[in-house]
Amino acid sequence: MGVVSGGDGSSLRRMFLLLFFFASVVLKWRKADSLACNWGTRSSHPLPADIVIGLLKDNGFDKVKLFEADPKALKALGRSGIQVMVGIPNEFLAPLAASVRAAEQWVLQNVSAYISKNGVDIRYVAVGNEPFLKTYKGMFQQTTFPALQNIQAALIKAGLGRQVKVTVPLNADVYQSSNGLPSGGDFRSDIHDLMVSIVSFLRDNGGPFTINIYPFLSLYADPHFPVDYAFFSGAANPLVDGPVAYTNVFEANYDTLIWALDRNGLGDVAVIVGEIGWPTDGDPNANIDNARRFNQGLFDRIAKRVGSPKRPSAPDIYVFGLVDEDAKSIQPGNFERHWGLFYYDGSVKYPLVLDGGRNLVPAKGVKYLDPQWCVMSPEATLTDPQLPESVSYACQYADCTSLVRGSSCGDLDARGNVSYAFNQFFQVADQQKGACGFGNLSVLTREDPSQGSCRFEVMIDVGRHDTSVNSTAVAGMAPAVGLWLAAATVVLWNSYY
Ligand SMILES: *[C@@H]1O[C@H](CO)[C@@H](O)[C@H](O)[C@H]1NC(C)=O
Ligand SMILES: *[C@@H]1O[C@H](CO)[C@@H](O)[C@H](O)[C@H]1NC(C)=O
Ligand SMILES: *[C@@H]1O[C@H](CO)[C@@H](O)[C@H](O)[C@H]1NC(C)=O
Repeated sequence: MGVVSGGDGSSLRRMFLLLFFFASVVLKWRKADSLACNWGTRSSHPLPADIVIGLLKDNGFDKVKLFEADPKALKALGRSGIQVMVGIPNEFLAPLAASVRAAEQWVLQNVSAYISKNGVDIRYVAVGNEPFLKTYKGMFQQTTFPALQNIQAALIKAGLGRQVKVTVPLNADVYQSSNGLPSGGDFRSDIHDLMVSIVSFLRDNGGPFTINIYPFLSLYADPHFPVDYAFFSGAANPLVDGPVAYTNVFEANYDTLIWALDRNGLGDVAVIVGEIGWPTDGDPNANIDNARRFNQGLFDRIAKRVGSPKRPSAPDIYVFGLVDEDAKSIQPGNFERHWGLFYYDGSVKYPLVLDGGRNLVPAKGVKYLDPQWCVMSPEATLTDPQLPESVSYACQYADCTSLVRGSSCGDLDARGNVSYAFNQFFQVADQQKGACGFGNLSVLTREDPSQGSCRFEVMIDVGRHDTSVNSTAVAGMAPAVGLWLAAATVVLWNSYY
């Protein structure tokens, strides 16, 4: 009896311990934010990597996706506790497809070295970026799969087969629906068999399917798109598919993929949402209110770990993007430079409530150039014949996408327009001597010309941030500006003489 009760006591204790253990695991799991985002670096003045790491950690991002093996970013990510997906740009696909050795070199230099020397927690290699976009007209269709296979083989050879998984971030146009409903989902017919081969390969190697989904682009592409359906707050007319009523395009789109995978016997492959977000400028629908509405809905979903009707388990979701990138191509649209949760300098664009009621916090320790701006001289006239050329020159080198109609600076008057363009050029040229030198059309001011939603920026001081900076590096920047100004003279010369 004594033995039995003793046994009962210890098993009770064990049960308590176990309960406690599970409770703490659950609590820990509940508490731990798992936020993921894309860190793009196509900026004239990228935020210094160590400041970005602080920004990520302060906001609870523990997973990050890079578009290429950027040495500064990777070094800064070493021993940060942040998991990394490192991307291979599309232009590398052909050489990596053609040569196993090239793939081995890529893995040695861009994965193995950072893991062993810098302690970077690399978990995925993203082979290509949306290589099957229709706009590429099949340019990467021959090379993506062989490059993927070569990188996978190289990872195994480097002894990283278990730790690092391969994937291919794809645009949502790799699948379609025969009947407009998620349940009609299948891969696009021109790449159907290729997609089945790639996804089978990913599944066999433990790699996830990575999909980029952009409700904003649905709205941008179709003026008749029901606006409410783009967000997560319910829609007046849900899309009814059998027993399921879809109230947002994200879930409908995501489930179209899950159906496509199912239809091809690949329903068990893991899925990651590689990019999703909402831009804040450069288009009437790209504004602070919409971005906040969309991203708050998104972060709420992430916190609740909800999946979709067809696949209830929540995928990892990499928000696009972390900060604005003023040097991105605007071929897709003027909004392309404004996807950041934060402005280019890591300052907060709009409040967002994260898991556990925390708010977004800005980057710390950012150093700026002098608080001065280049504006149109009060003495200059709008009829000055040099004005149009000067403005178009400034906007050729600096980002003027906030000036288009419906954007944050779209309501400026003509003089404000000119000032904005001049200042953008002046700041992107690091406020160097001569960069506010548009004949006698421009003048410096110490009074912030910002008005309403239109921000006249002061650029961050990359020189003061770069710890390796020396006088030659700073001196080395001057000729670049000199060249720009020389080019300006040529432009003006050509158009006037
Ligand atoms: C590593 O990645 C960088 C950046 O994408 C690239 O420039 C470099 O060529 C890569 N290394 C090799 C050996 O391919
Ligand atoms: C300001 O500049 C933008 C872009 O160049 C142009 O579309 C707009 O018409 C200009 N506004 C005024 C008032 O000049
Ligand atoms: C400065 O402005 C005046 C009057 O607007 C004009 O005649 C002159 O050519 C300008 N000078 C330069 C260097 O552009």
